[in-house]
Amino acid sequence: MKLIFLGPPGAGKGTQAKRIELLHGIPQISTGDMLRAEVQADSMLGQQVKRIMDLGGLVSDEILVAMLGERVDRPDCARGFILDGFPRTTVQAEALDAMLSSRGSKIDAVLLLLVNEAALTERIAGRYSCARCGAGYHDLYKQPHVAGVCDVCGSREFSRRADDKRETVVTRLEAYRQDTAPILPFYRAKGLVHDIDGMANIDAVSVSIDKALAKAEASDTFAKI
Ligand code: AP5
Repeated sequence: MKLIFLGPPGAGKGTQAKRIELLHGIPQISTGDMLRAEVQADSMLGQQVKRIMDLGGLVSDEILVAMLGERVDRPDCARGFILDGFPRTTVQAEALDAMLSSRGSKIDAVLLLLVNEAALTERIAGRYSCARCGAGYHDLYKQPHVAGVCDVCGSREFSRRADDKRETVVTRLEAYRQDTAPILPFYRAKGLVHDIDGMANIDAVSVSIDKALAKAEASDTFAKI
């Protein structure tokens, strides 16, 4: 099963992709997380992309396509994967299509999370994650069961992303409108897009996604896992 989560920054792609990863045992591939790991490691690539990411712009297609190509060839992707943050431009969408068809494969479904811009800004401003295991939380919508302690690993250290400032969110939303939204017709023409009401609470969004996946899985062309 090969899935894409599409939607603007803060729409809930990472939240839902992590859940699907646990549910179906296929990896979430977050290009944002991969790039942040490079920045954290202060690698050459990390140094190259840090400023662009901090300002909310998009990293070059060339870097992203190479990074993704290498990632989907790893053994843990043999049964499928969940793309979170890729593709983000028409060039990336077409490169992904070509990459998969050269391997006799294809995307099975695109889950589009629809959320209005005021809610996106609030979600991003309140987001934080466990500094040890990366589990995601929100000041209002998803707090740990025990205050100050990560539900997943028990760590007491949390962090916020460098690009989660209100002024950067404006640039990220503009990049979504300009570069990412235009790829939707490409997937709609293939009949792959499932519109999901991302304004509902996290559990209700999960239910809508599971229903959309069940519907997609019922089709003949869906790769069963
Ligand atoms: P990336 O890491 O991909 O960030 P993004 O797309 O901006 O998306 P986010 O991670 O901000 O949001 P999300 O939709 O995952 O929301 P989440 O689940 O966390 O990219 C970062 C940067 O890397 C880019 O700006 C770019 O520079 C670079 N980059 C990455 N990929 C690239 C590519 N392919 N090409 C070029 N450059 C690339 O949820 C947000 C918050 O809301 C959380 O706190 C969560 O708990 C809460 N929440 C989730 N769902 C709900 C709900 N239903 N109700 C209430 N709260 C909710």
